[in-house]
This record gives sequence, C-alpha cells and structure tokens, in this order.
Amino acid sequence: MPSSKDVQQKIDALREKIRHHEHRYYVLDDPEISDAEFDRLVNELKALEAQHPELITADSPTQRVGGKPREGFVKIPHSTPMMSLDNAYSEEELRDWERRVHELSGESRVDYICELKLDGMSLALRFAAGKLALGITRGDGSVGEDVTLNVRTVRSVPLTISAKTLTKAGLPPDFEVRGELLMPLAAFQRMNDEREQQGLPKFANPRNATAGTVRVLEPNITAQRRLDFFSYALFAKGRTIFERHSETLKALQTAGFKVNPNHRLVHNLDEVWAFIHEWEAKRDNLAYEIDGIVIKVDRTRLQEELGYTGKAPRWAIAYKFAARSGVTQIEDILVQVGRTGKLTPVAALKQVAIGGTTVSRATLHNMDEIDRLGVRIGDWVSVERGGDVIPKVVKVLEDKPRGHRKFHMPERCPECGGHVVRAEGEADHRCVNANCPAKLRESIRHFASRGVMNIEGMGDALVNQLVENGMVNNIADVYDLSEEKLLTLERMGKKSAQNILSEIENSKKLPLERVIYGLGIRMVGERTAQFLAEHFGSMDELMKATEEELQQVNEIGPRVSASIREFFDEPKNVALVERLREKGLTFKGHKKQRATTLAGKTFVLTGTLERHTRDEAKKLIEDAGGKVAGSVSKKTDYVVAGAEAGSKLDKARELGVSVVDENEMEKLVGSQ
Ligand code: IVH
Repeated sequence: MPSSKDVQQKIDALREKIRHHEHRYYVLDDPEISDAEFDRLVNELKALEAQHPELITADSPTQRVGGKPREGFVKIPHSTPMMSLDNAYSEEELRDWERRVHELSGESRVDYICELKLDGMSLALRFAAGKLALGITRGDGSVGEDVTLNVRTVRSVPLTISAKTLTKAGLPPDFEVRGELLMPLAAFQRMNDEREQQGLPKFANPRNATAGTVRVLEPNITAQRRLDFFSYALFAKGRTIFERHSETLKALQTAGFKVNPNHRLVHNLDEVWAFIHEWEAKRDNLAYEIDGIVIKVDRTRLQEELGYTGKAPRWAIAYKFAARSGVTQIEDILVQVGRTGKLTPVAALKQVAIGGTTVSRATLHNMDEIDRLGVRIGDWVSVERGGDVIPKVVKVLEDKPRGHRKFHMPERCPECGGHVVRAEGEADHRCVNANCPAKLRESIRHFASRGVMNIEGMGDALVNQLVENGMVNNIADVYDLSEEKLLTLERMGKKSAQNILSEIENSKKLPLERVIYGLGIRMVGERTAQFLAEHFGSMDELMKATEEELQQVNEIGPRVSASIREFFDEPKNVALVERLREKGLTFKGHKKQRATTLAGKTFVLTGTLERHTRDEAKKLIEDAGGKVAGSVSKKTDYVVAGAEAGSKLDKARELGVSVVDENEMEKLVGSQ
C-alpha cells in the first residue's frame, strides 16, 4: 500500500503535468502530446482521486472544464457551460457506457444518433431577432472570447434568418446554436503552401490552423482562409427545444445551418459499432479531418434524466479513433536505398506508440524536407501516421532540448559504395550503380509484393536471403527457383518451400497490368500500368510504342513517356522481359478504347445516386477516360450530386464548379 504522502505527491505531479498540457492545448494551440495521451493522464488522476476523495481540491483539473482564454479578445460568459465529452477507446468502454445509460434511465431500449467527431474547435453562435449577434469560442467552457467579426466571414454561418424560415423550422427569434468550426483539408493545404512561399511557419494540422485563424485580428484574413461550420446543438433560454436530437438536426438544417450529413439514427450498440467501423474506413475520403464518432442519446427527456458529470454529459460519449501522431526523439538518421536507387533519409526514433502500433522509424523524404523542417539528430519531433502511409516527421519541437548533429547526405551509396548524384532540378539523391544490391533487393521486394505479383511468403526476410545467396539476381530469376534450391536456405522447411513455389506459379496468371507494374519502371505506378495495359493490349505493343504514342495514353506526359522509353531502350531490360515471356507470365491483355472526351476531367461524387452505386459510377467515369477524386477543389470539373448530397455540393457551389445530376453524368460518359 503506498503511503498517503506518496499518493499526494503523485496527484500533485499529475495535476502539474495536466495543467501544462492544457495550457499548451487550449491557450497556445500547440499541443506537445496526443489527445489520447492527455486523456490517459486525466483518467489516471481521476482514478486516484476516486480512491482518495479527501485529496480532491477545487483547483484540480478534474474539477473544471478547460484552460483560460488568451488575452486580447473580449471575454463573454457562456449561457450554459460549453462542456466537453467523455472518451471511449474500445468497444468494451462503449458497452460500459451503454450499461450506465440503461441503468440510470431505467430504459431497456434507447435510440442513439451517431455523428462524426469533427476535428476543429467548438463555437457558440447567439442569434437575436433572427440575426447573428455573437460568435463565442469555447475558452475555458464557462467564459469564451468574442470572435463575431471573424465568424461573420465563415460562409456556412447564416447572418440572418427570416421570420418565415424560423417559423418553418420551429425556432424562436432568440436562440443559440453550437457546432464545430473547422478548416477543410484543401483550404489547409492551400494556406500552408502560401505560408511556405512567404517564408512563414506552417500550421501542424487543420485544428491548430482553425484556432489560429479564428483569432486573427483582421477578419479579411479569416475570410481568405475558408473556414467551415457544422452545427450540432440548439438552445433557447438555455434549454433544448425539441423532443429528439434528430429533430434538432432537422430544424437546424431547415433554418439554414450546415449540418453534417453523415449522421445516423440507430437503435442499439451493434449499429453504433457498425457506424464506427464504416467511418474509420472511410475517414480518408472526407474533405476534412475527423478524430472519432460522437454517440448521443436521441430523446431529450432521457438526456435530461441522465444529466451531466462535472465536465461532460452522461448522455453522450466520443469514441476516439486511434491517435495518428506522437512525440518522440530522433536517435539517428539512416539512409535507405530504394529500387530506383533513390536515397531516402529515415529517422531512427525512440520507440513511440501511435494509433495502436509501435513506431521506431519515420521518413524524412529527402534533403529538401530535412532543410525545411530544420531537423537535427537528437531533436524532439512530432511524428504522424496516416491510414496506410509510412510514418513521417512533421515538426521539430523547438522548445525541447535541441539536437546538435546535422545530417549530411552521403556521397557514396551506403549499400554498395557507388556514386551518389542529385540531378539538376530534382529533390532526390540517387545511387547510380546499376548493380547496386539494394536496388536489386527492393526491385524484387516490389515485384513479389501484394498489389503486384502477390507472391505470399516472399517477404523481406526471404528476399534478403535470396539476394545475399545470389539465387536471385533479377525478377526473372524468381521463376527459376526450385524446391531443391529453396531448401538450401536457412530456416526453410519443405512445406514452406512448396507453398512459395505454388504462389510463384499462381503469379503467372495475374493480368498484364501487374506484370507491367512489377517491372519497376520509374514513374509507372499501379494506375499508369493499368492505363498502359488497356491502351496497348499487349507487352509487345507497349515495348514498341514511341514517346508520342505513349503520350496518347490517359495521364501520361513527357516525363513518364521518356522514362518508359528509356526502360525499353535498354537491351538488358528487353532480355529480362523476354525471359518473363518464356516463363509464361501474362503478356496479353484486353485493349480498351477509352473515350477521350472525358480525358483530363476530374469528377467528385456526392450523395446517393438512383441507378448506380458509387463504385459503378466511378467505373463509368473512368471507363470514359475521366478521374474520380475524393474532395472538391478548384481543379474539379464536375460534381455529380445525388440525393442528400452534403458538404461537397456546398463546396462546389462556393467554388463555382459545375454540378450535374445522374442523368447528366450518364450523358457525359456516353452511356445514355
Ligand atoms: S457534441 C456537451 N458533437 O468534441 C458537449 N461535439 O471532445 C457537446 N465535437 O468540444 C459536444 N464533433 O468541439 C459534439 N458531432 C459532434 C462533435 C463534437 C466534434 C467536439 C466539440 C467538443 C469536443 C469534445
């Protein structure tokens, strides 16, 4: 049993830490740790305080909502506290919450609304006589800052609502709307590009950019940065007006507020869980960032019965997706050689858990990126991990102890000692030795990998062994492997050898585009390989094609056509391809005449179409030579809007992009 003095010390230390991070997050908008790490500290403190209630003090971070607002804007008390939400990180924690909801309410069946947890900042909008009177930040939850002038520039916030519309929506003239202010990814990207050009520091993520933007003193700067506002709560005289949250959302929409279309009324936790899964998979298709799902009890009466704890409602919970960034220290910078000979600097990190996996390496891309970040060995950095992307270093934490060792790109290849060159105008350094073993290893790894020839069992370790033992000196040698040869390798059993050989045999049946992709031609990725296979219909036609002919292919320009020609002009490569032919790989495909009318046109799909699923519509457009993108930008040519089209439609209108319906899309792709 720890002594009460030990417990007191532990509590004091935790409170100190939490205060520090609250200040970084709420006041400076510059967090040092992820939300999940922060929540863990708070939960630890809560647990200790629950065991020792005599040690709870009024100034404990658990006894108030947030940090203090920054000096500079007029402070306004909130009409009712702006609470935060309790978090759940697992299905079990959600089920615990559901159990409490059932117990406290005495109801056995409860309806919930699932909403996206938008990653911006919450904002309160007060309307008087139907006109926007005040925009207030959350601040510390009881007092926020008056940012009305900046909020007025946000186009999705109505400035005035007619009496007729208010009546239709069932709203009184005086009311308050709350919701999330955010910066869409495209706007974030554009703003950071501009800042880079102007030599200004970039924002680490859209949430920080939103907080920074709503607090700038000149509203015209806020206006340029294109913030967006989604509403999710409504009060009049401090109380909810409607009987159900789902009705509130409808009323908000009717009154002209933007409500995120991706919400769903569900009847049990299994349906909640399905919604969570769906959006965890789809989150990367959204035009803005989300960090979880918010689950709310639908019926207002039940919400009131369940009430609030000190800082959060009991009737709602936030399920947080695994965090995608973390803070750690760079122990060294190593250099990796890729299949095209590119040298990539990679940070060797002190291990850190990010989004459920342990990360010990993160890419630094190239020398330009190292210079841009100002990274030195020994620095503390923020590391981000996207969906399936390799972790990358995004920022040096300048207020932590700085590293002293600068990194220099080696003049000789670390794998073979070959010369390293950086071509004029290129960001990358390359090893120019054609026989560099690293290039060979990587080209074989690529060839055997899942999206290419899909040879299961031929992972990194086996490829290393095969290359080191000289059994495989090019991709065609893979097809000369035999059980006898494989069995000479360490740790190789008969069964594994047979499985690998059968995988190798199966790979021969894969279509032409995979073989083209597998060759490892510079600048020919999966999509380009697909276009090449469809355009030429065979390896022979492709090998003969001139640069001009290659440029007839969808999305292929002078750089890619030159790279393809260069590859097939090299006799060694032609000999390699001929060996693959002899081994029986697929060299013939199906020529597909891509209509050129939609070549170079970019489409974005939104809402539900009547006659086509998303995938069908995507295929129709791509078959006609067009491209389908996930978010609307200035480069979008058409937005195809179906029923219940959401924010993408608003965005299209805002940017003046052509909006077409399903019929018009069919005409464009020529299927009608
Ligand atoms: S409801 C009583 N709904 O998450 C609290 N919040 O961690 C009502 N957030 O401060 C909040 N998306 O800034 C709600 N669909 C959503 C949300 C959402 C994002 C934010 C909000 C809040 C924070 C709590």
